[in-house]
Amino acid sequence: MHPDSIKQRVQQAFDRAAPTYDGAAVVQRRVCDRLLAECDWEDVLPKAILDAGCGTGYGAGILRHRWPQAHLTGVDFAPAMLEQARLALDDAHVADIEHLPFAAGTFDLWWSSLSIQWCDARAVFSEAARVLRPGGRLAVSTLCPDTFAEVRTAFSGIDGHRHTLAFNTPGAIGQAMEACGFRDIRLIRERHTVHYPDLKTLLRSIKEIGAQNVGQNGRQGMLGRAAWQQVEATYEQFRTPAGLPASYDVLLGYARR
Ligand SMILES: C[S@@+](CC[C@H](N)C(=O)[O-])C[C@H]1O[C@@H](n2cnc3c(N)ncnc32)[C@H](O)[C@@H]1O
Repeated sequence: MHPDSIKQRVQQAFDRAAPTYDGAAVVQRRVCDRLLAECDWEDVLPKAILDAGCGTGYGAGILRHRWPQAHLTGVDFAPAMLEQARLALDDAHVADIEHLPFAAGTFDLWWSSLSIQWCDARAVFSEAARVLRPGGRLAVSTLCPDTFAEVRTAFSGIDGHRHTLAFNTPGAIGQAMEACGFRDIRLIRERHTVHYPDLKTLLRSIKEIGAQNVGQNGRQGMLGRAAWQQVEATYEQFRTPAGLPASYDVLLGYARR
């Protein structure tokens, strides 16, 4: 599929998911909290912050709490998501984070949590480098290849489709940052798992955060009954006392422009 039509599908999925996103975004909030917790920059007092792919504004809320003096700008290409974030922001723009509508050197901190995994990493980081002032900071979280490994295994038996996005490795993310001129790069990889009572609830929750283009990429439409039962049976092998796991292979990245 052409990158532009993938982008359009992702944008539409997030626009539709705006009303249900906050109720389902357990890992997304946890990852935002971790991204901020690892910003161990005692000397940094940003005046202007950009939240790239701000969603419904959870990140904006915790950034405001940490740096109350900063002017907070949010960008998201899904208007319905951005609408919910507006109250938490000083400035809100519907735009693509690969093509930011800001002048060079506008921001002291470029922040993005779980929003770049559908993008070209180099395009995103070169825009980040452009809109950051020299010495400005970057904080990003994204997903790595073991994300939803259970979903991939469960669906792999039934057809030839790849059922999750091809995520970047930490090495590729680090290289893209370096190629765009970032230095003092620090990467932290960690696993976050959520548990669900059954597979239907697990897949519904992926849909409610708008991430079905991550979880079931490549297949449209319903499964037949036999195929569904096979997927359920395979997924049951991963059950723990806490329920059926959905694992996120998360990368936190920090750098200086
Ligand atoms: C999983 S949500 C994360 C939202 C928020 N950062 C959070 O942590 O809750 C991903 C967000 O990124 C936005 N997004 C994805 N690709 C984008 C792009 N190329 N330009 C702008 N926004 C994008 C989506 O619309 C969605 O709101």
